[in-house]
Amino acid sequence: MSFCRNAALLLLILTICVNGERPSSSLPLSRRSLQQSSPNDDSSSTNDKSIVSSSFSSAWPPWPFNLLSPTTTTTTTRSSSSGWKNRAWQQTRQSLKVAARHTQQLTSSLYMHLPPAAHPFLMIACIPRHQKIPLFSNPLARSIGLASMGMAIVSWAHCDWYRQKSLVPLPLVYPDVHRAILPPFLPETPPLEVNTRNKDSSPDPTTNRAGIEENRNQWLPFRHKWSSISKIPWPLSRRWQTMRQKRHMQRLQERRRVIYDELVALQTLKRQQTMKHEDTKEPLGYALVTGASKGIGRAIAVELARWEIPLILVARNIDRLISLANDLENCYGVKCCVLEADLSKPHVAERVYKTTQEAGLRVDILVNNAGTASHGIIVDQPLKEVNQMLQLNADSSAVLSNLFGHEMKKRRRGRILFVSSVSGTVAGISTLALYSATKAFQNSLAVALAKEMEPWGVGVTCLMPGAVEDTDFSKNTDNALCWKIPFYPKKPQIIAKVGVRAMLLGETEVVPGWQNRFFVKVLKPALPQRLHNVIAETAWNPIRPPFQNSHRPGLDAENQNHNKSPTPPAPARPSNLGHFFSQPGPQRLPRLLLLGPEPNEMNDGAKVEVDPSDLSHDHYDEDDRSEPVEGTSDFK
Ligand SMILES: NC(=O)c1ccc[n+]([C@@H]2O[C@H](COP(=O)([O-])OP(=O)(O)OC[C@H]3O[C@@H](n4cnc5c(N)ncnc54)[C@H](OP(=O)(O)O)[C@@H]3O)[C@@H](O)[C@H]2O)c1
Repeated sequence: MSFCRNAALLLLILTICVNGERPSSSLPLSRRSLQQSSPNDDSSSTNDKSIVSSSFSSAWPPWPFNLLSPTTTTTTTRSSSSGWKNRAWQQTRQSLKVAARHTQQLTSSLYMHLPPAAHPFLMIACIPRHQKIPLFSNPLARSIGLASMGMAIVSWAHCDWYRQKSLVPLPLVYPDVHRAILPPFLPETPPLEVNTRNKDSSPDPTTNRAGIEENRNQWLPFRHKWSSISKIPWPLSRRWQTMRQKRHMQRLQERRRVIYDELVALQTLKRQQTMKHEDTKEPLGYALVTGASKGIGRAIAVELARWEIPLILVARNIDRLISLANDLENCYGVKCCVLEADLSKPHVAERVYKTTQEAGLRVDILVNNAGTASHGIIVDQPLKEVNQMLQLNADSSAVLSNLFGHEMKKRRRGRILFVSSVSGTVAGISTLALYSATKAFQNSLAVALAKEMEPWGVGVTCLMPGAVEDTDFSKNTDNALCWKIPFYPKKPQIIAKVGVRAMLLGETEVVPGWQNRFFVKVLKPALPQRLHNVIAETAWNPIRPPFQNSHRPGLDAENQNHNKSPTPPAPARPSNLGHFFSQPGPQRLPRLLLLGPEPNEMNDGAKVEVDPSDLSHDHYDEDDRSEPVEGTSDFK
């Protein structure tokens, strides 16, 4: 009995450590497998895309089978005995992976519901009963450990199981969220040009040391692990470094091109199949993603496109949005609209809502992702920047959630995802004060909103990533310690996968990465506030010599720059768009939405308060917003 219990607890701890957010399968189909033709396939079409697509059914992974009719699948599956065996083995492996993911999710979710003080008692309960260790073999401590485990189960059953049951499922193309096998993720590749931003003396990138160093640090694999020793003179020639870097970037470009071709081929195949079998499902509305032009927002947009959800992409950089929308339409066949909006300005969130209403676009999923962070002490930041950050990180997300949330409540279905941060769980990180405060606002809002929207079947999720590489945020704080911890920074793709899956399942809080979960659930409750603040501050600040880790960047910078002349502003970064998205394939113009007019301004320039009845809900009955009454048909 004791052995079983200890084994179960050990399994629990192990599964928490092995987190379940890795990509579900090594997806990209090889070009070779696509070009083998299967005897059962109809390869009569002559265009080059359908030549590739004709052999999709003989390839693994089985995601294209979701799109094929059952007859086609059966015929192609049994075409050769070795292929059949191989496929059977692959399917078994896939089922095992799904089972493992289920277990991981269950245990990790149970763990998230443990009361904070339970951890030491739970550890005591893990020690075998026959080992008489003084203090640790205390029966009271054991009982408390087991009782907290029981509380975790009850809490999980109430929060997750009951709430997920009450949520209204979205009409997804792949309805089983746990078992869905999606098409490959379209990666973003770096530009093929050598970065010459930090010019030493010569503009030639092969002789420009700073440019080479920066590029090497930026794009070479394991850069975070090795960047701390990047000051050591590199033993190889600069020419060799440049060649190696170029080759690496070319490989990434090539990988993206292969995936792009495969996805376009899949679309061709899907179009042929859809002509035969009409889809009778009620369509899902749009997913509106703010800050979709790059970083985590772009990854979330691609992930939603993999689920075949139509998109409205919102950001300031319209060129990037149009390129992304073209890519998603070509590769995943989803409808994409783009909307240029600066959410750091007042009333823009309302105008975004109005624009979608006037265009007749029904938003079923809202992703509040757009956000910025500024590093430094708060009193030294210009007031304009402070206002913009508050507006973007806090105000806009609350306003959008209010407006679109009301629509979802009325339709009784929908999901809202807040892209917050682990720093929002720490009570104040100096040098990131405003950022962590706005993220704490989002965390709190998301959890409360989740409870409020539950009776109407609308799910609200708060995604709390830690350090995410390949984003502008990571470039701004490049010398912080957290980027140098091996295996800690995550790719935006992983964050998007975890976040979108949790959102579709209706989970309230999700923390990607076992290191972050350990910090939020173990270190934070176990340590005094001052200590966990120190951990967070150390992680988000540059490494300093011992005993000087004072985190006073403003003061240090002041001391350092006391006698120096002011540095000239950095030159504007060149646009890399041409390289990012110069891809083959048809380029269509996505549906371009134009932001509605600004609210009236008075003659003296002062802004007039926007009348809420003018912005929204005026076409609804005020009764619609009232609480449901128990016993009536409104109450769920
Ligand atoms: N990277 C991390 O380590 C990390 C960790 C935890 C949480 N997060 C959170 O994740 C979210 C996305 O961050 P990220 O790392 O992907 O940052 P990012 O690479 O800088 O991307 C930010 C996105 O927001 C958009 N945006 C910025 N200002 C905007 C404005 N005023 N109006 C409309 N859109 C605006 C940007 O597009 P345009 O420039 O084209 O407008 C861009 O698409 C943020 O909320 C951030 O707090 C990031």
